Amino acid sequence: MKETLEKSFKEIYGRSPEVFAQAPGRIEFIGNHTDYNGGYVMGAAIDKVVMCAAAKRADKKLRFASIKTGEIVELDMDDLTPRKREQNWVNYPLGVFKYLREAGLKAEVGFDFLDISSLPAGAGLSSSAAIELSSAFALSALYGFEADLKTKVRIGKKSENLFVGMPCGILDQGVSGFGKKDALVFIDCKTEDFSNFPLPGKCRFWLFNSTKKHALVDGLYADRHNECMRAAKVLSEGGEDRLLREFSLDDLEAVKGKLTDVEYRRARHVIEENARVLKAEELLLKGDIEGVGKLLYASHNSSRTLFENSCEELDFLVDTLKGFKNVYGARLSGGGFGGAVMALTDETFSEEDARKVAKTYAEKFGQEPKIFTCATGDGAKLC
Ligand code: GLA
Repeated sequence: MKETLEKSFKEIYGRSPEVFAQAPGRIEFIGNHTDYNGGYVMGAAIDKVVMCAAAKRADKKLRFASIKTGEIVELDMDDLTPRKREQNWVNYPLGVFKYLREAGLKAEVGFDFLDISSLPAGAGLSSSAAIELSSAFALSALYGFEADLKTKVRIGKKSENLFVGMPCGILDQGVSGFGKKDALVFIDCKTEDFSNFPLPGKCRFWLFNSTKKHALVDGLYADRHNECMRAAKVLSEGGEDRLLREFSLDDLEAVKGKLTDVEYRRARHVIEENARVLKAEELLLKGDIEGVGKLLYASHNSSRTLFENSCEELDFLVDTLKGFKNVYGARLSGGGFGGAVMALTDETFSEEDARKVAKTYAEKFGQEPKIFTCATGDGAKLC
């Protein structure tokens, strides 16, 4: 992959890159829509990555090239405003560059930039966080800017929130940054503490991508975000503003009459999901993977009934997977409203089993889901 990237860079820009960096995609293991509510979440970095290469220029231009089309977007380094429509793919590294400079990176000259990906597109594996983290590593190294990993993760999230315009939490960037092979990343999103703990060796991840994408997915994500914030505001009445993470089910029941039915159900999902993440951590430490699997199913059920970010296709996949003895648990992974289901299986779950799931799905929906299995991988780094 690195050789292809280097070769393409030379072809496009006529010289060699000075730095290379890579960052992985992620699976959301458990903790659905808990991150921007200051809660807990667990994810796994996978062994598929975005890799990028960059070299300084002698002038003040920034150039981003698409490896697929060869198209080059050229900008002035002192005009760091988000690009629209066809050029919006440059916003990920561009936003990162803007916020690295705000954090103290000194750049007198611009750069040429190119990236390549082994992440399947649109599979809900967060290729956006992977490009943000890999560009944070590459551009910091290019300009000799010293920033720790947490700073790079925060810059990736800031870029996604303020430059790309997606009000996500810290899950994707945190896992892409702090991932470790054979381990999960646990994030306390309030304190922004990241820790790793081992995933039992017998576990495998399978993804079933429904390829269904709700047309309004970004708007629906923002709606859920706003509903949670409104519920938190009511729960905070009489004190300082706090996020849903701070409240218990008893607190929620006490203000039920002041919340709309929708706000109540969104908040209940988040409060119970936070408890499930903590329980999953406890069970994983005890090696009780069957118990963890049950929590994955419970998480999906809550997305389905309370948070309402599932859909018929994802529910069907989870229900079908439930029929397999070698599946510990399954749930929608990521924002929802279409996208992929993640299954945690033992090592006996085979390609043939996956095909059976795909066939059953195709009988109902007329089209097979995209199947993908992956191993865990390491977090962002120079390469
Ligand atoms: C998307 C966002 C994450 C997180 C999940 C839902 O993947 O990017 O920050 O909110 O949805 O848990």
